Amino acid sequence: MIADNISGKTDVYGIIGDPISHSFSPIIHNSIAGETKLSLVYVPFNVKPDKLEDAISGAYALKIKGLNVTVPHKKDVIKYLSGVDPIALKVGTVNTLKLTDNGYIGYNTDATGILSSLKREEFDIRNKTVLIIGAGGSSYAAAVAAASHFPEKIIITNRTLANAVELKEHVNKNYKKQAIDIVPLDEIMNIGYCDIVIQTSTVGFGAYSAQSPITDKSFFEDKKVELAFDIIYSPWKTKFLEDAESMGVKTLNGFNMLIYQAIASQEIWFEKTFDEESKEQKRQTLMMYYKSMYNC
Ligand code: ATR
Repeated sequence: MIADNISGKTDVYGIIGDPISHSFSPIIHNSIAGETKLSLVYVPFNVKPDKLEDAISGAYALKIKGLNVTVPHKKDVIKYLSGVDPIALKVGTVNTLKLTDNGYIGYNTDATGILSSLKREEFDIRNKTVLIIGAGGSSYAAAVAAASHFPEKIIITNRTLANAVELKEHVNKNYKKQAIDIVPLDEIMNIGYCDIVIQTSTVGFGAYSAQSPITDKSFFEDKKVELAFDIIYSPWKTKFLEDAESMGVKTLNGFNMLIYQAIASQEIWFEKTFDEESKEQKRQTLMMYYKSMYNC
């Protein structure tokens, strides 16, 4: 895919995280770069938390042009950067680093990935009630994405209430007038209605793959939910999405978000904008590849 394109002028990009071997990002980025005939290679780096500072200064010394940052470094890496983009500051985490003369600048393209996914579904957040399940790392990008598009209300539901309160306070620092309600996860059935549910918890993934954070699917019966969006894409259809679908609700998994956040990273690195048609083409190619690779 890329070997014949490597020369003395090849630029190196990569992703740092721990673990990292499961990441689909190298395939996404090398595939897009191959298409655009750029001479670059994108590689995974398994960086342990106690080596994060060394990794960033080493990458800078090696002039690695850009890095994606994933779990568990998205927050901790900020202290090793020379600057942080305003959107990333609002989210509180970064997932994209761009090399400059003075160090790396951090960006967050997760919120963009969420918004682009919703745009493709023609879902407009304005004046809508947005229910967010979860208050962990990924929930911050979802909450900021929502708050930046004028919803009527955001409802955060989480197992640990204190984490939901922390997320609400974080969002209200930048979006002071945003109405945000907090509901304990075990009281989710009491929510009146919501136009969209964005599932950002880890329930549905890994050891929890047989579970949904909404244990009673009759939730979807009377809440007028237009779209159930799970940011998980492995499994392809979580129990949460299966339940929503079986109750007649439109569903969306996290694969498009993954692709759109990667495209947004490339737009930052290469200072270019991909048009909608080329984004859609990349999304379709990578989705076909992913589905055949993982048989889903
Ligand atoms: P990530 O960075 O992927 O978002 P995280 O920061 O560990 O991961 O957050 C995980 C989210 O899933 C949290 O909202 C967590 O709820 P708590 O704040 O109560 O920990 C939620 N979560 C994880 N396991 C859960 C479970 N068994 N039931 C309900 N919520 C769970």
